[in-house]
Amino acid sequence: MIKNILVTAGPTREKIDPVRYISNYSTGKIGYEIASAAKSRGLSVILVSGPTRLAAPEGVKLVSVESADDMRKAVLKFIRRSDCVVMTAAVADWRPKYSARRKIKKPGIRNIELVENPDILAEIGRLKKKRITVGFALETENLEKNALKKLKDKNLDIIVANRLTPKKSVFGDNVLDVVMIDRFGNRTGILNKRKSKLAKIILDKVLKLRIH
Ligand code: CTP
Repeated sequence: MIKNILVTAGPTREKIDPVRYISNYSTGKIGYEIASAAKSRGLSVILVSGPTRLAAPEGVKLVSVESADDMRKAVLKFIRRSDCVVMTAAVADWRPKYSARRKIKKPGIRNIELVENPDILAEIGRLKKKRITVGFALETENLEKNALKKLKDKNLDIIVANRLTPKKSVFGDNVLDVVMIDRFGNRTGILNKRKSKLAKIILDKVLKLRIH
């Protein structure tokens, strides 16, 4: 039975210099909703969050981080006591190779060299010690095919796939359509749900899975 859950949420920020960073549009909403739903179901919840404007749900232990590297460290620190990890965070895939200690002045730089960030979820998937691992996938095309690939490559129990279209943003407080695929290939479409409702449905499904 799942008692301790670790949820990640929000974007990460990758520093260019003390005043500038690379990030993404994630608001953290779905992660905070999942943390809140888990708390209401009596679970002990750790929420590792990148910078957001949201307040941590009551009774949830909030661990605030900034970069992907910070998030990785926090996740690895708390993972041992978690029997479920839900990675909703929009981890920046790249970071500047060099971050300047002082503000870069004009004319400054023309190009920023990027290096790949560690894939936190794939790393957790490889650890695989009696734990349910849940990932999210954000895709602009081939939604299910790409999500299935992530489920397999990252050794997940469930993947929640979100389609991003030019007309419909998944960022902020919107109604979403997602597809959940579990490790047995069962597929559940969840249509037209607010993130608070969606979080509850996802959590219910996760809590039904057996730890193996
Ligand atoms: N993720 C992660 N660490 C990263 C990148 C992603 O832990 N460096 C996690 C996300 O939290 C999410 C899942 O992996 O649960 C899928 O993220 P997504 O951005 O959709 O996919 P990527 O694996 O980054 O692949 P791509 O950007 O090529 O689609």
